[in-house]
Amino acid sequence: MKNKFYITTPIYYPSDNAHIGHAYSSLVCDSIARYKKQTGYDVFFLTGTDEHGQKIEQVAAKANIEPQEFVDKIAANFKDLWANLGIDYNLFVRTTDDYHEQTAQTIFQKLYDRGDIYKGEYKGWYCTPCESFWTDTQLANDNCPDCNRAVEKASEESYFFKLGKYADRIIEHIEKNPDFILPVSRKNEMLNNFLKQGLEDLCVSRSTFTWGVKVPFDPAHVIYVWIDALPNYISGLGMFNDKFENEDFWPCDLHVIGKEITRFHTIIWPALLMALDLPLPKSVYAHGWWTVEGAKMSKSVGNVVNPTAYAEKYGVDAVRYCLLRGMGYGTDADWSHSGFVARYNSDLANDLGNLFSRTSAMILKYFGETIYDIVDDDVLNSDIENAYTSYQSQMDSYNVAQAIQEALNLVSRANKYIDETQPWVLGKDESKAAELKCVLYNLCKALTKSAEMLLPIIPQSAQKILDCITFNKSSVTIKKSDVLFPRIDVKMDVAP
Ligand code: MSP
Repeated sequence: MKNKFYITTPIYYPSDNAHIGHAYSSLVCDSIARYKKQTGYDVFFLTGTDEHGQKIEQVAAKANIEPQEFVDKIAANFKDLWANLGIDYNLFVRTTDDYHEQTAQTIFQKLYDRGDIYKGEYKGWYCTPCESFWTDTQLANDNCPDCNRAVEKASEESYFFKLGKYADRIIEHIEKNPDFILPVSRKNEMLNNFLKQGLEDLCVSRSTFTWGVKVPFDPAHVIYVWIDALPNYISGLGMFNDKFENEDFWPCDLHVIGKEITRFHTIIWPALLMALDLPLPKSVYAHGWWTVEGAKMSKSVGNVVNPTAYAEKYGVDAVRYCLLRGMGYGTDADWSHSGFVARYNSDLANDLGNLFSRTSAMILKYFGETIYDIVDDDVLNSDIENAYTSYQSQMDSYNVAQAIQEALNLVSRANKYIDETQPWVLGKDESKAAELKCVLYNLCKALTKSAEMLLPIIPQSAQKILDCITFNKSSVTIKKSDVLFPRIDVKMDVAP
């Protein structure tokens, strides 16, 4: 039986269409999911949309349409975008799907029945864009401490979840499981800024608007959107509903999230799971933000970059590559069009594209399509093996950007090997034919391994490379191909 691997993206708010920040989270998951499949795992990859809450209700009202109609449209756009970017998920959960609502209600009921949810009165502040509650002391200059936007006074009869009760167990879990919160900086932030300060009970229902899942035993209340959203990770497997039977994938191997929602995933979600007597996810990886000139990319700031426009103009793999290579592990990354072009030209057009075109052109020129009777000297073998070992260790620790770098290091090594061996000189001397065969064969090996490593990152182009090179016992055959990554002419180019 194959080992299982379960990976999830955050479920996105369909309050607006996705930008490259959202695309990034899905691409990280997609690349890891593809890698795991390639290395023999039975993978389940979940994504979806988080469709309830006050913000969605407000944006739909502003657009003069029913919330359901509004989210239907945007959820469809998300699905189209994922298809365009080659995001190969297994299931797209929508929190308005019946099975999901069934799970959310069952969980709420269970927590109520076991005394972890009780009725009280909420008095405090609410940030609608973040769907977060805050106390007076938590506000930053009277604004939301997460997004710095205005908050609204909220005073209403509400249900509360006994979050505080689980604090010690969560601290213990975090301390005993070094891979639970990645990277380490986030772990320290959670421990020092939240857990060790003591946790207040969490308000888990709202009664001042209606767009949400109804509290099963008190339909004047809707379930607080995060308590509705987080369970998508188990509703999508069929837990507490009768739609699917993929419960075996729990506990999740990896929740990929943006850093701003770490608290929800490493404190609130674990507490809910503990209350349900379910095991906790193995790892939560919080990546940084795509910013533009230092400001977080978001619709309200007006600095969003549209991934579809880039994919249409430069190709899907260009977008996948530049996003995945462009953000370091756990850190923010600043987006600029010139940065995108520079990376595309240097890594894809120059390094990888040139290695491929030079190698295939030389084989076609000197040997026609096939090089026969190669006597292998294995000169690049250890470089190839070492690159692959480093790549694997980076992918296994979810550092996709560094894994890509390991693949590109092998590409650079192979390009350097061309310069060192000067096959065009060997080609002029018939007595050097055996040597030339060997050089070109070694290049084919390095190229194939690089393409294999890049398959989860740039699936179409890497597959093209692999399809062009066929190894036989002591021969290799190359198929002519178009230029993989046409160079972008910086002078003529305009951002899409
Ligand atoms: N609906 C909640 C998540 C619920 S998960 C149970 C939510 N949605 S969101 O649409 O606002 O953002 C979801 C995710 O999109 C972020 O956590 C992050 O992964 C990604 N990003 C949104 N903007 C981003 C950037 N500017 N940069 C990088 N990622 C960003 O929060």
